[in-house]
Amino acid sequence: MIFERLAAMLNKVIAIDGPSASGKSTVARKVAAGLGYQYVDSGALYRGIAWKAAGMGCDPAKSAEVVAAMGRMKVYFFVEAGAVRYRIDGIEPRAEIRTERVSEQVSWVAAIPEVRAQVTQWLRNMAGLGDLVMEGRDIGTVVFPEADAKFYLDASPEERARRRHAELKPAGETADVNRVMDSLKTRDQRDSGRKTAPLKLAPDAQVVDTTGLSIDQVVEQILRRLRGNG
Ligand code: DC
Repeated sequence: MIFERLAAMLNKVIAIDGPSASGKSTVARKVAAGLGYQYVDSGALYRGIAWKAAGMGCDPAKSAEVVAAMGRMKVYFFVEAGAVRYRIDGIEPRAEIRTERVSEQVSWVAAIPEVRAQVTQWLRNMAGLGDLVMEGRDIGTVVFPEADAKFYLDASPEERARRRHAELKPAGETADVNRVMDSLKTRDQRDSGRKTAPLKLAPDAQVVDTTGLSIDQVVEQILRRLRGNG
C-alpha cells in the first residue's frame, strides 16, 4: 500500500480532455505509445458501467438503480498491450460499449455523483500502475489537477460528427451524419452542463484544435510540446 502510494506520487500523468469525437482516444493511445506510458480511456469505464447496469435491468436515468447495480459489479484492472484495461464481472467489454445506445445512456450515468466518485478513485489508483496518458473530460480539472501536462483537444462540430459517424460502422451501426451531429450536441450539453465535474477547460491546459489535422499531426504536436520544443 505504502509502495503503491509512493509509486503513484512518482509516476507521471499526462491528461488529455475534450468533447466527444475530438480525436482524444486515438491521439492519447499514440502519445502513450510514443512516450512508453500506459494509455487510459476513462470514458470506457463510464461506458462499461452504463452497459452493465442496463444489462442488469436498470434504467440509466434512475441514479439510485445505477448506484446499487454498480455496488454489485466486480471491476478488475490489468495492464496489457500498453493500456490499463478492465473486466466487469469477468468480461472485458469492447464493441458492445461503443454503440449509439450506450453512448446515449452513458451521459446520464456519468452525471451521477456516486458513479463519478467511484470512477475517479479507480482512475487515481491507476497512477500506481505506471506512467499514464489518461483521456476523458475531467482528468486535468478533477482527477489529476496536478498532472504533469494537460491538453484540451477540440474540433468543429461538423468534423466531430464525421469522425463519430465513421466510428459507428465497425460497431455495425449506420446513422445519418446530421443525426449523429444532433446526438453529439445533446451529449456535449449534458457533459458540459452537469453539476459534478463538467467538461471544461483547465486554466493550465494547452488547447489543440484538431480540425483539418491528421491524427499523426496532432500526436506530433503534443509530443513536440512535451519535449519543450513545440
Ligand atoms: O469519451 P467517451 O465518449 O467514451 O465518454 C463516454 C461518456 O463518459 C461521455 O458521456 C462523457 C463521459 N465521461 C466523463 O464524464 N468523464 C470522463 N473522464 C470520461 C468520460
